Amino acid sequence: MARQLDEQIAGRYPVGRRLRILDVGMGQGTQALRLARAGHQVTGLEQDATMIAAARESLACEPDGIRERMRIIEGDGRDTGVHFLPGSFDVVLCHGVLMYVEEPDPLLAGLARMLAPGGLLSLLVRNGDALAMRPGLSGDWAGALASFDTTTYRNRLGLDVRADRLATLKATLAGIGAPLHTWYGVRVFTDTAADGAEVPADLESLLAVEERAGRTDPYRGIAALLHLCGVRG
Ligand SMILES: C[S@@+](CC[C@H](N)C(=O)[O-])C[C@H]1O[C@@H](n2cnc3c(N)ncnc32)[C@H](O)[C@@H]1O
Repeated sequence: MARQLDEQIAGRYPVGRRLRILDVGMGQGTQALRLARAGHQVTGLEQDATMIAAARESLACEPDGIRERMRIIEGDGRDTGVHFLPGSFDVVLCHGVLMYVEEPDPLLAGLARMLAPGGLLSLLVRNGDALAMRPGLSGDWAGALASFDTTTYRNRLGLDVRADRLATLKATLAGIGAPLHTWYGVRVFTDTAADGAEVPADLESLLAVEERAGRTDPYRGIAALLHLCGVRG
């Protein structure tokens, strides 16, 4: 996913340009920190105090130059308009967050407003078109059958959350002025791997297969997650 994001950034902006990046629901800040290390000016917005503390701890270990390029704000991703001016970011990330938001459209509209013209909106969502894959591949037939006609699912933490369908998000993105530009599948073959499973010896091959499948029909359509890139008109 990081590779896909870097590719989208590289396709839109000259190498070396310091981009203004907003990471909404940044969690522990893994992606935000990676982008700050790459030279960008990153703002992380996160509502969970424990996550914020973890992100601050990681940031504290970084050299001054990187610490100065990253700011962390505690707040709700639905309130971007309270914290920032419209059009003040080149890239807005919202990865692994939409699952937890009951009504995604107002959040997404707010994120699109934060983008400068030509800016990139990067979303990572649970694929609502392929929810039967995980239970089905695990031999949970009742669970698989129940997954066809719904966009809610129980995640690995035991929470009942939301998935998003590609066609619905495509329509939403068009409606908020950040039409879908590119989309990828993420975790096509690896979704049923147990949490904490040992890293396979042929990790490079696994990543190459996932990378390829995530860009290739029909595989990407049944991925566990969808990575959608919209571009502000
Ligand atoms: C699954 S984690 C993803 C973290 C990170 N973006 C990543 O990709 O690794 C989801 C994060 O979104 C945060 N979150 C959920 N709803 C949010 C909201 N409305 N505003 C801000 N953060 C939110 C959660 O607190 C959590 O840290």
